[in-house]
Amino acid sequence: MSFQAHKNLQISVYFLLSLIDKVNYLTKGSQFGNLIVMESYKLRKLFLDFFEERGHKIVPSSSLLPTDPSVLFTTAGMQQFSLYLSGRKDSAKDFGSKHLVSCQKCFRTGDIEEIGDDTHHTFFEMLGNWSIGQDENGYFKEGAIKYALEFLVDTLGLEKERLFVTVFKGDGNIPRDSEAIELWKKYGIPMERIMECSKRDNFWGPVSDTGPCGPCSEIHYDRGEHLGCGRTDCGPNCDHCKRVVEIWNLVFMQYFKNEKGEYELLNQTNIDTGIGFERLLSLLQGKSASYETDIFADFISQLEIVSKTRYDDNKKTFRIIADHIRSSMFLISDGVEPSNLGQGYVLRRLLRRMIRYSKLINLKPKFWIEFVLMMIDKYKDIYPNVMSQKEEIIETIKREEEKFEKTIQSGLGIIEKMVDKKEWSGEEVFDLYQSYGFPLELSLEIAKEKGINVDVNGFNKALEKHQDLSRAGAEKKFGGVGKDSGEVGAKLHTATHLLHSALRKVLGSHVKQMGSDINAERLRFDFSHTEKMSPEQIKEVEDLVNEKIKQGLLVKKEEMEIDKALASGALAFFKEKYPDMVNVWTMFDSDSEEVFSKEICAGPHVENTSELMSFKIIKEESSSAGVRRIKAVINQ
Ligand code: GLY
Repeated sequence: MSFQAHKNLQISVYFLLSLIDKVNYLTKGSQFGNLIVMESYKLRKLFLDFFEERGHKIVPSSSLLPTDPSVLFTTAGMQQFSLYLSGRKDSAKDFGSKHLVSCQKCFRTGDIEEIGDDTHHTFFEMLGNWSIGQDENGYFKEGAIKYALEFLVDTLGLEKERLFVTVFKGDGNIPRDSEAIELWKKYGIPMERIMECSKRDNFWGPVSDTGPCGPCSEIHYDRGEHLGCGRTDCGPNCDHCKRVVEIWNLVFMQYFKNEKGEYELLNQTNIDTGIGFERLLSLLQGKSASYETDIFADFISQLEIVSKTRYDDNKKTFRIIADHIRSSMFLISDGVEPSNLGQGYVLRRLLRRMIRYSKLINLKPKFWIEFVLMMIDKYKDIYPNVMSQKEEIIETIKREEEKFEKTIQSGLGIIEKMVDKKEWSGEEVFDLYQSYGFPLELSLEIAKEKGINVDVNGFNKALEKHQDLSRAGAEKKFGGVGKDSGEVGAKLHTATHLLHSALRKVLGSHVKQMGSDINAERLRFDFSHTEKMSPEQIKEVEDLVNEKIKQGLLVKKEEMEIDKALASGALAFFKEKYPDMVNVWTMFDSDSEEVFSKEICAGPHVENTSELMSFKIIKEESSSAGVRRIKAVINQ
């Protein structure tokens, strides 16, 4: 038999086995007792329905890009409710209820290097329920515990005898949670399955330096002795095995961590909970890895066919490709573009890491297109913007792949020549970054695989030196703006500010910048607004911007301290971390002195709006829940 025929046979056998496996879990249930085995869509629905039936309002997932400027991504379901949990806003007013439930898109960068094991993901979904403050129907610890047990045991069929719970044992500042212990006992969890743990495991939040937080109780599930390490102290948070897995975190939010690092008691108590969706799903489908659940099963089998290799032989590679394609799709659909900064840099790392791993199983450029489409199909009914952003997703990955493809082979060739060294210098790794497009983390990972040290400090120094040089170059270029690309950039920056102000005047002051991007052809502007703009509104915004271009407003630049700038009413892009001194750009009518726009911005601008000639909106679309996106051009 030829090698190829042998491989094909292997793949078909594997295919058949996974099919039998699938039929098995759908008909007979998993090997774990009386669980009701279900596909992912059903679990999401069961959870949302369960809480809706109990008076909770279903709130759609917010974007992966949070409104809080101090965090890069949405990492938990409670983030969009932070102001309600700390009592600064009223959820009854804004959501029609104090009891909320959601399935939230989350992204955690801390786990990128761990992708490939059974449980970690960059993108994942989190199920959660909230009780905010306590009105007459409000619930706190007891309600949260009761609901959790009811859902897990009565709805999902988990065995109560296999549940473990953990509670906060207290420290100098915050007392032991004896109330939670008593409640767990009251609802049938015996003391030998209640573990008291320290702050590291049983105190949750805040998400950034300050914010609502509190002690928590985690619910863990014993998957069975056969998966254990056999140690007598094996249980929740075991360092040696994954027999007992965490499935639900119930946070009893009673505190607010302030700027001084002190825990103040909140005026209200809240329940905030989080279930790692993929993990619970794996448990319900009797799989130890989420990559083997229905979310990824088709993806993995198709990857076997396309790569002519087996998942079982290449688990890490398959999983990295699956995880990174899925998370890149979600990041791009929420407006991230690859770059060397912040969120864009994370996306670049994911895409380049995915491409590098795809080479290990001989996948060719653009192989990922059909896999992106599979993922879009899988999620389009839950997160419709993956569908509406389909072209953007594919085009963005294509552009990034083309960029990286130009250099990756030479880069890998250079690395081949460096594998005998004990250490790579900062300059060498910087060269891989600068000339061959290898993110630092990718070089670090390759070096680690080969047991090589890397001078990371040296890399950072080389990067800083390079940035200083290019900044000096850019200043020169913008200083004598001639007919170069700087001119278009300056015009589009100014056009972006005019658009921002016009949107606020036409749609209302709830409009806030959620993202923006400029290239040689167009500007792109994401802003908070829930409804599609009507053709009349689009025209009104366009007309207003054109009017301001015609009037020839002066554009004035002032340098000032960030606090002063904000106090003066200058708009800021709140996802940005600003330096102490910022540039404030004001556009005003020199006759009436009336200010049309005032914003903090590091970009270059024109001196007079008349330089823009004309402005046109070419697209208005949804970017993510509650966020619209406009693309516009000038001078046409
Ligand atoms: N906010 C609860 C959790 O993320 O676990």
